Amino acid sequence: MKKGKGMKFVGDSRISAESNPHIPKDYSEYPGRTEAFWPNFLLKEWLVGSVFLVGFLSLTLAHPAPLEAVADPTDAAYIPLPDWYFLFLYELLKYEFASGVWTIMGILVIPGIGFGALFLAPFLDQGPGRRPHSRPIAVSMMLLGLASVIWLTYASVAVVDWETRAEENQPIPEQDVEIDQEDPGYAIYENNCMACHGDDLQGGASGPSLLGIDFSAEEIATISTDGIGDMPPDQFTGSDEELDQLVDFILSVNEDAE
Ligand code: HEC
Repeated sequence: MKKGKGMKFVGDSRISAESNPHIPKDYSEYPGRTEAFWPNFLLKEWLVGSVFLVGFLSLTLAHPAPLEAVADPTDAAYIPLPDWYFLFLYELLKYEFASGVWTIMGILVIPGIGFGALFLAPFLDQGPGRRPHSRPIAVSMMLLGLASVIWLTYASVAVVDWETRAEENQPIPEQDVEIDQEDPGYAIYENNCMACHGDDLQGGASGPSLLGIDFSAEEIATISTDGIGDMPPDQFTGSDEELDQLVDFILSVNEDAE
């Protein structure tokens, strides 16, 4: 039997004779736009997106963002900085026309105009061409926006003394210490010292780390009752026996840490 001979072709009313979903429509009137949005174009977008996502994930794993020291509410000299991608907005607030009584310009109006202008994108340069030179208005607006963001970001970081900043903001070193919560000294530490010196003796906003200290048992006992430097006296209240347990506890954690 020859191919097709003697066969009956039956139409199915549920399937439209016109339906041909994955073949791009005829865009020949629009040179340069001969691509179906779905799935061709979206697939490309998705691929590029995945590459960037995986890239960023690898980067964050390879270079975790460093943390600064614990926030200290008493340090008035500390200048908080936003993350890098917000620095340009932050810099904007330093200009006279966008600060003080004009703050609303800096936080709402100017950024609002900038981002709101993106809504204009479909209405600019409506010609058929997609190349940059056939879309001069859109391209120059984008370049202007990009240049101002880059300039503002640069201006905001150029005045920061990063070395001094890093020195003054030593992150709390990660310590791998075993805290024995059963130790009788732990409860005494918890009641008398933890508020300032931290859960794991790692230090906090109002007291330094007690790990890796170079004090003898007597010295720690004296500090506990008499204070030292900025540490007020009489932090320890209790019996001599409890003081011994506290000192032993601090020393034992320090021995473990070494
Ligand atoms: C009110 C907060 C506060 C409490 C509570 C406190 N400390 Fe301190 N402690 C400090 C501060 C601040 C310093 C830093 C003093 C300085 O060097 O000027 C310090 C320093 C120390 C030091 C010296 C650390 C070093 O490296 O120089 C020791 C040891 C110490 N504290 C032990 C204790 C013990 C033990 C207790 C509990 C009985 C305790 N502290 C409770 C605030 C506190």
